[in-house]
Amino acid sequence: MKTIIEPFRIKAIEPIRMTTRDEREQLIREANFNLFALNSDDVLIDLLTDSGTGAMSSAQWSAMMTGDESYAGSPSFFRFESAVKNLMPFKHIIPTHQGRAAEAILCSILAEPGRRIPNNTHFDTTRGNIEASGAVAVDLLIDEGKDPNSRHPFKGNIDLIKLRKFLDENADSVPCVLLTITNNAGGGQPVSMENIRAVSELAHEFDKPFVIDGCRFTENAWFIKERESEQANRSITDIVRDRFATADMMTMSAKKDALGNIGGWLALNDDALADEARAHLIRTEGFPTYGGMAGRDLEALAQGLIEIVDENYLRYRVRTNSYIADRLMALGIPMVQPAGGHAVFIDARAWLSHIDPLQYPGHSLAVELYRHGGIRGCEIGTVMFGKQPDGSEEPAIMDLVRLAFPRRTYTQAHADYLIEVFEELAERKDDLQGYRITSEPKLMRHFTCRFEPLA
Ligand code: F0G
Repeated sequence: MKTIIEPFRIKAIEPIRMTTRDEREQLIREANFNLFALNSDDVLIDLLTDSGTGAMSSAQWSAMMTGDESYAGSPSFFRFESAVKNLMPFKHIIPTHQGRAAEAILCSILAEPGRRIPNNTHFDTTRGNIEASGAVAVDLLIDEGKDPNSRHPFKGNIDLIKLRKFLDENADSVPCVLLTITNNAGGGQPVSMENIRAVSELAHEFDKPFVIDGCRFTENAWFIKERESEQANRSITDIVRDRFATADMMTMSAKKDALGNIGGWLALNDDALADEARAHLIRTEGFPTYGGMAGRDLEALAQGLIEIVDENYLRYRVRTNSYIADRLMALGIPMVQPAGGHAVFIDARAWLSHIDPLQYPGHSLAVELYRHGGIRGCEIGTVMFGKQPDGSEEPAIMDLVRLAFPRRTYTQAHADYLIEVFEELAERKDDLQGYRITSEPKLMRHFTCRFEPLA
């Protein structure tokens, strides 16, 4: 059949509170035009993030009742640990409350002033943690990954020539090589198995630990299976296992491809570093058999890790994005191509070319999607990445609006509504105006800064 149906039916629902355009006009003004400041009750379709916002299965909810909340030695931890190790063969699994806590612990053991850490593209929390430690985060994405129109199948790949040069020049100051699969900040683009293997070999040639940021590891595995011919006949589980076997460490946000509402982990093989990491964990998160989570959360993740490798789920998951991307492209709306695994990224800089990048075209589009349609997306552009460590401001590589789809949460009718909203916006996009930031914090300004529309 042509139609790929949602491979589940709905047992519990959450009503959506309807709002009018006039109400939303008032609400966004009160939020100082920052979408993060909205009350989510005032959002019709919330595509701000796919992180922790997905629906759990009946099996996950029932597993939660078996959660053991013991401070030490909870059987829920051992079920969680074995589910992780089944897919990711690391020796030590260190549970945290979410991905950024794993990153903070990683930075506490590897980063310090004077160090430089390469990645395809650091996500904002990864960059934030590295910079807070005094180290420098360096992005070495392939050029195709910076071109929204390139149809390269693996636009998340790291540039191996640049990485070798970087390691040659900075050998003494690089504590590890990071790779983010999929590359969220760069349009949700996947990294190939070939690239993962090559990065691993290169890191090891220079005697550096290879670290994978695995947040969306199954979506990436699906693209590997679809687009890398020698992987086409392999199971998702085998692809996942092989991939992590090339790494020495991983960080994970279980709020993505572990189908949890909260959770994460740091995994590694080195005993001495694991001891250091656990000492930090006890100080900041919790005892090593729960870290930052309740026993019931560990149970939900153990079950989520079984469900996430289901190929029917992954086929539907990836199709959700390409369905919307195909329809928006037919309307002439520029976007990062091909569609990513967890989100559609609109190229706001190209679509709203009358707005200067330093007046935030991505932000302008995101505000209008909310005002007009009650849809909340997220700017990934100059607001998020434009602020430089020296305090100056430069246009980001791209000005995108990410529409991220919570897992198993919305249906095709929600997608069709979104497409209609774009259809109407297309008629008056040239009237949209830029913005100016009126106040901002020092790091990760996009979460809390205030805006004012330009006249
Ligand atoms: N790495 C990547 C690639 C991410 O996308 C995220 C989170 C993190 C690390 C941090 O994980 O949120 O559990 O602390 N991304 C979310 C998003 C917030 O909306 O894309 P976390």
